[in-house]
Formats: sequence, C-alpha cells, structure tokens
Amino acid sequence: MGVLGVLFLVLFLLFSFCAALLKWNEVRYRKKGLPPGTMGWPIFGETSEFRKHGPNFMKTQKARYGSLFKTHILGSPVIVSMDAEVNRYILMNEAKGLVPGYPKSMVNLLGQWNLAAVTGSPHKTLRGAMLGLINPSMIRLHLLVKVDEFMRSHISDWNDKTIDLRQKTKDMALLSILKHIAGLDKGPISEAFKPEYYKMVRATISLPLDLPGTSYSKGLQGRKKVVSILKRVIEERRASYRSAYCSDDDDILDTLLKTDKDSKFLMSDEQIVDLIITLLYSGYETFSTTTMMAIKYLHDHPHDLEQVRREHLKIREGKGPQDAIDWEDYLSMKFTRAVIYETLRIESIVNGVMRKTTQDVELKGGETNFDTFMYPDCFTFNPRRWLQEHVNLEAQKSFMMFGAGTRLCPGKELGVVEISIFLHYFVTRYRWEEVGGDEIVKFPRVDAPNGLHVRVSNY
Ligand code: HEM
Repeated sequence: MGVLGVLFLVLFLLFSFCAALLKWNEVRYRKKGLPPGTMGWPIFGETSEFRKHGPNFMKTQKARYGSLFKTHILGSPVIVSMDAEVNRYILMNEAKGLVPGYPKSMVNLLGQWNLAAVTGSPHKTLRGAMLGLINPSMIRLHLLVKVDEFMRSHISDWNDKTIDLRQKTKDMALLSILKHIAGLDKGPISEAFKPEYYKMVRATISLPLDLPGTSYSKGLQGRKKVVSILKRVIEERRASYRSAYCSDDDDILDTLLKTDKDSKFLMSDEQIVDLIITLLYSGYETFSTTTMMAIKYLHDHPHDLEQVRREHLKIREGKGPQDAIDWEDYLSMKFTRAVIYETLRIESIVNGVMRKTTQDVELKGGETNFDTFMYPDCFTFNPRRWLQEHVNLEAQKSFMMFGAGTRLCPGKELGVVEISIFLHYFVTRYRWEEVGGDEIVKFPRVDAPNGLHVRVSNY
C-alpha cells in the first residue's frame, strides 16, 4: 500500500471512529419521552457550537426540532424550552422536582450556599435573609439614599472626558454592591478583590475542567482569594463591635452578623460568604450590562432620550443641586422604568434560567421576550409598549424577565432603582456621543468586548 493508501486508511478509520462516538453518545441519551435533538461529543457535547454561535445555535436547533429540544452543553445533558407556557410551568413547579440546575462550573465557583444552588428549607431560610436585606421597604428607608450618594459621586467628574461605559459600569456595579454590603469604598481591599472576582465571574460559563491554564481553573483560584478576603472582612468587622444591637448606620454585613442567635436566619460564616457572593454576582452584570445598553439605546433613539431627560429634569426642578432622590421621585420615573424593561427585553440580559429534574416530569409542550402577540413589532426598541393604559405587560403571566414562582428575583426593585438613579444623574448632567467602532456581542453574555467609548460633556 502506498503512502496515499495509508493516509486514506487512517482518515477512514478516524472518520469511522468519530461517527461511532457521535452515534454512541446519541444512543446513550435516547430515552422514551425525551424531545428530539442532538447530543454532540461525549463529555464536551455541543459546548463549542453553543459558545461559538450562542443564541443562533438555539435558534437553529429550534428551527430543526421545535421549541423543546435536547442537547449537551457545559458538561451536562439539557433540555431547552423556548416556549412561554412550558417555561412558566417549569418555574412554578419546583415542588414537583423542577429544581435549579445551574452548570457545575457555576455552582462550584459561586459556592454551595449560593441561593441559586440550594433547594428546600435552606433555600427558604437564605431567601428570607436575602429578602430581609433588599426588599422595597429596606430600599426606601436605607438603601436609596446610599445608592443616590454613590451614583452622584461616581459620575461627578466625567465632563470633557472619553469614558469607557463598559468598564465604568462594571466597576461601579462591583463597588456599589461592596459598599452596600460591607461599607467598602474604593481602596486596597476592593482593588485586591476586583481582579479575583472578575476571574471567578468569567469562568462561570466554562467547562468544569480543572486543568492548568483553563478559565475554570483560574476561576477557582479567583474564588479562593475572594473567599479569603471576605472572611478577613468578616473577622475584622466582628472584632470591631462594641454592641451586638442593630443601628440605623448598619450595612448588610452588620445586619447579617448581628442576627439574633434565636433567629431563623442565623447563618454560618460559609453561608454569609456565599450569600455575599450571590448578591455580588446577581447584581453585578444585571446592573452594568443593562445600564450600558440602556445608554446605547437612548443614544440611538434621541426621541426617547429627550423624553427620559424631561422626566428627570422635572424631578430636579423642585430640588437644589445636592438634594437626593427620594422614593416618590423614584416612583415617578415611569418612562425610565419602561426604557429599562425594554432594554432587558430586547437584549435578553438574563438569557435563560436552568432547572434539573429530580424525578420524571411530563411536559405538554418562542423565545418569550420576542413573543409577537405580547410584544408586537417585537424586534423594535419601543419603551412605550410598557406604558399602555389597557394592558399592564408587567402583570402578564408570560412576563418572566425576573423569573417566576419561588425563585422570582428578590433584587428586581434594587436593580431597577440603581439603574434609574444612575440614569437620573447621567442624563441631567451630561450629553454624550459615541466615539464609534465599538462592537456589541450577545453571547455568551451581552457585552462590548473592547469597551463602549463615549465622549461626555456637560448638559
Ligand atoms: C435588574 C436586573 C435583574 C434581572 C433582569 C434579574 C433577573 C433574575 C432572574 C430571571 C432570576 C431567576 C433565576 C432562576 O429562576 O433561576 C433572578 C434570580 C435572582 N436574582 Fe435577579 N435580576 C436582576 C437584578 C438583581 C439584583 C440587583 C440582585 C441582588 C442584588 C438580584 C438577585 C437575585 C437572586 C439572589 C436570585 C436568586 C433567587 C432564588 O433563587 O431564590 N437580581 N434574577
């Protein structure tokens, strides 16, 4: 046999081996009652196609197999549902065994006590503690004034500068949460914390392979340092107490540490650390990406920008330059809220929630944010759709941008407050122009990989 013949034989064997592997993996998951779909390679599944094409991968599979299909991504076999009715059923039925099923990488990096990872009574306890910290009345009485002070001071010197909104909103998101949680300002602790935290966040959407140099392995190193910094902060805080009683100046960490020994919300240090990481992770990207994209949409829709600006200038009319936003002012920001919701809808900032089954579940099964019945002309940015008198979209059953059921986002109002207050100071103080040339990608997360640069000047 000549060299060509050997080469042909090797290629043939390789091809047959790959085909057999793919077939074996398909057969392994061929179980009665499962929806159609493909499972890709053993272990890796279709992760690389998913990472490369993201939403388009989902759309292609949907076009091939319908709104309910199976695949294998990020180290687990999964069933994807792009049907609003099925999604609502899933979110409302944790008690029937449809519990959160975030990928192993996410759970290992965010911690075993992360709210999204726990179920049953630990979930009830931790969720109760979380709601106690960031519910609307806590925001009205304690957090709003802190958010106001934080936002106004962080954007006070942007005149005549080129600002990378991506970096600024990310830094602000992290610093703002660190400030609410542990009173930490910009300084050595937050500077040491930042790179480790970013490593950890980046690795949450990766294959859980702990090999040197992989994103996952760097993420695990990041988590180790994040945990050690938070533990040190907790120890120092404990050592500083003269009284175990709560006071009005307490931040979230004080509230957690001073919890009465008889309280049902008493937590171990491990649980406190993971709760802080939950707060950081959940509030970080939702604030930074939504704010960056809302500014992008307002820039591209000057008519909407004018309406937002009018709303905020009206609020400032009765106030001196140093007067803070109060709860009534916030409630009057109706168009701003509509802009935030429309940005969340059209950008799908949270592009899916994950569940796993603990028992067999029968489902009777569109991309819910682009349901043409609920959102006519669904690909157009139109904040006014949220202000219709005869239909309250937020109250519809298929409105699930903040989840539903027992996992409904506890930070929804805090998130909207933070973005609204940022927009308040940004649009009343400044005008801005995009420098241009920056790219926005939608996957694995909505992002401007090289930044979103704007030239800012006084309004
Ligand atoms: C404004 C933008 C936000 C959006 C669009 C959003 C969206 C969501 C969604 C869809 C879920 C459900 C996840 C699931 O069912 O598995 C969720 C859960 C959660 N969110 Fe948010 N969120 C936002 C802001 C925040 C903020 C600012 C915080 C806290 C600081 C927060 C904390 C949480 C937590 C802790 C959970 C888990 C709840 C549980 O498992 O019981 N979120 N969020």
